[in-house]
Amino acid sequence: MMTKKELIQQVTKQTGLNKTLVTQALASMLNSWTEALVAGEPIRLHDFGSFSSPIQLSHQSVESIESKNLIPRQLVRFRPSEKLARLVAGTEEAKEINQSHIGGHMSDMPNNENQNSGQEAEFFGLDVGTSRIVLGSGEFNNVKTQTQLNAFVTVPYSKFTENILRQNKITYQMSGKEILIFGNESEKFANSFNVEARRPMCNGLLNPTEANGWQIIQSIIELLVKKTKKTDILCFSVPGAPRGGEANLVYHEGMLKNFLESLGYRAKSVNEGLSVIFAEMERDNFTGIGISCGGGMCNVCFAFMSVPVFSFSISKAGDYIDNAVAAVTSEVPTRIRVIKEESLDLSRAPKDKYESAMHIYYEEMILTLVETLRTEISESRNLPRLDRAIPIVLSGGTAKPKGFLEKFEKIFRQNDFPIKISEVRMASEPLTATARGCYIAAAYES
Ligand SMILES: Nc1ncnc2c1ncn2[C@@H]1O[C@H](COP(=O)(O)OP(=O)(O)OP(=O)(O)O)[C@@H](O)[C@H]1O
Ligand SMILES: [Mg+2]
Repeated sequence: MMTKKELIQQVTKQTGLNKTLVTQALASMLNSWTEALVAGEPIRLHDFGSFSSPIQLSHQSVESIESKNLIPRQLVRFRPSEKLARLVAGTEEAKEINQSHIGGHMSDMPNNENQNSGQEAEFFGLDVGTSRIVLGSGEFNNVKTQTQLNAFVTVPYSKFTENILRQNKITYQMSGKEILIFGNESEKFANSFNVEARRPMCNGLLNPTEANGWQIIQSIIELLVKKTKKTDILCFSVPGAPRGGEANLVYHEGMLKNFLESLGYRAKSVNEGLSVIFAEMERDNFTGIGISCGGGMCNVCFAFMSVPVFSFSISKAGDYIDNAVAAVTSEVPTRIRVIKEESLDLSRAPKDKYESAMHIYYEEMILTLVETLRTEISESRNLPRLDRAIPIVLSGGTAKPKGFLEKFEKIFRQNDFPIKISEVRMASEPLTATARGCYIAAAYES
């Protein structure tokens, strides 16, 4: 076994640095690691491995961990890099490790772009939503997101049109005598040709009535997710099962997982409501109710210390509102969606027939959501014993209009709720919470 003292001696000898300096540097390094792990931040050391602690523990949760006879030590994990694992197993020559010691050539340093930087596995979060696909990537404390619309339009094929698309660097696909334009570009074409953009997904799942749906969804994902050879980890969102209805969830999840694995990723699904909890409830020990009100559905998850207690979905969400309002006002759903996204304010009285209808269907959606949640909690047999009130976090595009939070709270407070709720709050960025949560799930998988 190597002790701290021996480590200091060895580093002093290898680097020629003063022993006091090495001792101070090691103490500072261990301090920084401890702080990061206590804060729930993983530590990743290139070519060595990563340490992670799954949750930021408050006093109360430490008590509940002890009362459940869990060993706190088990909460910090070390996962060796592939390289270290191969070295330990004796399947890789030890000389490679020596190349990165101080005093080697610059080209031998671990950060050299050409040599090694491409080798370290990274993690990604992918929100596969009915209306938008969002990729989360980058740094643990600074997740960057990129979005593509999950939609396409078709235009008749002509050599001329194809050339124009090429000149404008617009990606497209051919299908028989039609050109398929997908992702963010589809909106521009839908507006210009005054046609409805079509969707590869419907109510949170692959749309079985769109013949080209699966082909298109793969192409849209490939605009965001690049092929990898490093077995990077990618978590993608899936909806909860709809209450009272069967869903083709297993097929949807299996198709996405197989496709993402064919791009080289270790792919794992995460429930959408749970991913909202991962993104927004670190300070609550990942205990609470996460809700994502999207295009195709509202997804809900109740988790205790990051473990899901139950999850479900309802298929009333943004698309339902657009279609229902369009039907009663003799408008097309796309036009309703534009009005809704640009100007709906639920905190003031409706100005015209469109807004009146939007208010009514928004209220109906929230009522269905709250009532279903109440029933799920009342019927759930494995509710954890909670020693304090828990929060509800709202996210998703449909939660964006001004006044949504207040409307939700008003409907929520109309009747007693079976468990104590501390607050209802909005996600910091409602449109990217799911992708950020998936990213965090992937980081903890590493
Ligand atoms: N500012 C806004 N005001 C009102 N609605 C909005 C706004 N922005 C987006 N939306 C609506 O939000 C919905 C899309 O939300 P989101 O991107 O969260 O859904 P999704 O993840 O693609 O779908 P799902 O999770 O249901 O599969 C659409 O119905 C869109 O019209
Ligand atoms: Mg969503």
